[in-house]
Amino acid sequence: MTDLLIDTTDQVMTITFNRVDKKNSFTTAMYADMADALANAQLDDNIRVVVFQGHETVFSAGNDIADFLQAPPTALDAPVFRFLRNVSAFTKPVIAAVCGPAVGIGTTLLFHCDLVYAGDNAAFSMPFVNLGVCPEAASSLLAPQRMGYGRAAEALLLGDPFTAEAALEMGLVSRIVPPTEANALAQRQAQRLVAKPRTAVLETKRLMKLSQASAVEQRMTEEAVIFGRMLGEPASKEAFSAFLGKRKPDFSKL
Ligand code: COA
Repeated sequence: MTDLLIDTTDQVMTITFNRVDKKNSFTTAMYADMADALANAQLDDNIRVVVFQGHETVFSAGNDIADFLQAPPTALDAPVFRFLRNVSAFTKPVIAAVCGPAVGIGTTLLFHCDLVYAGDNAAFSMPFVNLGVCPEAASSLLAPQRMGYGRAAEALLLGDPFTAEAALEMGLVSRIVPPTEANALAQRQAQRLVAKPRTAVLETKRLMKLSQASAVEQRMTEEAVIFGRMLGEPASKEAFSAFLGKRKPDFSKL
């Protein structure tokens, strides 16, 4: 079974996370495939919108933790960082349909999506501190801006999860729907975008992102350097071993 399904129909490229037995956690190979798919979609005039979707029970549990231990992304050209750069710089509309858990990059990816449709079972979290690492995807910049510093601090320093309602209120989510309807709504909205004048859509997205673009790029690079370093430190190794060993991490000496 392939971990990603990538399909282009009616000018919409849909990337479906298809690793439900591992809660759609992302491996290095999945990041590489998604980075390549976005790079190709950027150049392909036949693709006008990209949709990310998971399963109605789970969007993504974030980075595959076993992969983090075996192949930590310590270089800036690692597939995870390439994927994040490509989605952040993508000039065409990006839509996400999010149901169930959206952990780590499962949530931070959404800061780079234009429309996000959440199932009422969506549960967002960015538990980077609990894993001994720092935020990625420019979430250290974008979360305080979008959520307000107080709520971002609860989400990023404490790793507290937040609900679909909270995400809607802070503008991270466009609309909440029953989980069985999220993917279909994302596709309908994609088709609406396809039917609109191409240049008007592209210029509008570009202008909405303009004031942030270089700050986002710079922050992603800074985070990636620190993130890569922290993956080699004892706190993250303890957190990952604890997760894989199904035990509580012990940070008392760290
Ligand atoms: N990396 C690797 N494997 C993962 C994973 C991840 N991020 N998230 C879940 N899995 C695996 C589990 O190890 C388990 O595998 P097993 O069946 O071989 O034991 C399987 O997926 C099911 O996960 P489980 O934890 O039993 O499901 P759940 O419904 O109880 O909880 C989550 C779902 C997403 C809340 C929980 O799995 C979780 O918190 N995952 C870790 C999230 C995380 O910290 N991600 C890193 C962010 S940077």
